[in-house]
Amino acid sequence: MDLEWVNTSLEKIFRKMPAVTERSKEKFPYTTVNGTFDDQTTVNPCWWTNGFWGGMMWQLYHATGNELYREAAEINEEKLDPNLMDPMGLDHDNGFKWLPTAVANYKVTGSRQSFRRGLLAANNLAGRFNLAGNYIRAWNDDGDGSNAGVAIIDCLMNLPLLYWASEETHDPRFYQIARRHADTALRYFQRADGSVIHIGKFDPVTGEFLESVGGQGIGKGTSWTRGQGWAVYGFTLSYLHTKSETYLKAAERAADYVVAQIPESFIIPVDFCQPRDCGWEDSTAAAILSCGLIELSKVCSEKHRERYYQSALHILNGLCTKRANYDQHTDHLLEKCSAAYHDSEHNFAIIYGDYYFIEA
Ligand code: GLY
Repeated sequence: MDLEWVNTSLEKIFRKMPAVTERSKEKFPYTTVNGTFDDQTTVNPCWWTNGFWGGMMWQLYHATGNELYREAAEINEEKLDPNLMDPMGLDHDNGFKWLPTAVANYKVTGSRQSFRRGLLAANNLAGRFNLAGNYIRAWNDDGDGSNAGVAIIDCLMNLPLLYWASEETHDPRFYQIARRHADTALRYFQRADGSVIHIGKFDPVTGEFLESVGGQGIGKGTSWTRGQGWAVYGFTLSYLHTKSETYLKAAERAADYVVAQIPESFIIPVDFCQPRDCGWEDSTAAAILSCGLIELSKVCSEKHRERYYQSALHILNGLCTKRANYDQHTDHLLEKCSAAYHDSEHNFAIIYGDYYFIEA
């Protein structure tokens, strides 16, 4: 496939983003209202998506060298600091918050302060590990302990914070916890056809797996597309950090399932099992799947390489040409995202859609 459209899209992003950054650099954006980013700074300062804006800024800094992006990234990272002093504001999504911010900063600049932030977040994430069930607990409580046994597929994307901490400190504990969790996801979250569940419930005392529940997809037994994306990308990342073929095979199974479902139209629904006449789609899932399939295509067995790569390009081309908003007066990039199947949040912008779109 001729890739001129990628360069065209990147040029448009590079033209648009300085203006967006100037007016948004003090915010924690989650979505847009009439094209303007909202701000979670006071309403939801610990929200799991609050590091993606900083991550976009590091991606753009990396690509352009423009100091404006670095300044905005550092503002975002510092603004996350109060989270580190709020145990109930921290959850398994520490990876989503500090990998694109503090860890990215540390990798680019060697900042010791960023290193400390990343390591604090990794220690907290490791502390969520349940020894009986070998899973990292996802969410905190509303007061009744009901989330003590809950783990979710998304957590695969947080494990690189643990791999990073082990690599940096030469302490294998973080790595061991990440692997145990990935093994649990492999055992209980991936179905025989390669698709994955969203939420798994365990008995937090005995560690017994109890059931899967529907989560953000349609329901039990269906295939929430963003979750499939977390699986393709997440198992690939565990393979990259461990070189364990088990995770590579899991990523390939997840990818085979996904690639067989991708419609000719490129449009990724909210759930691969949703009714044909349901028009809801999720551009965030499309962007995450593109990233995951591209990464996987670099390391998978030869026979899958071209199929995964072309599928990723097919989806990405659709996003670049039909779902991206390049208008400099509109803050978001991707249109038509969905938070979950069973809520009213469809057909809007979500910050992590933009983050993974730029990455892809
Ligand atoms: N990690 C939550 C979500 O993907 O919506």
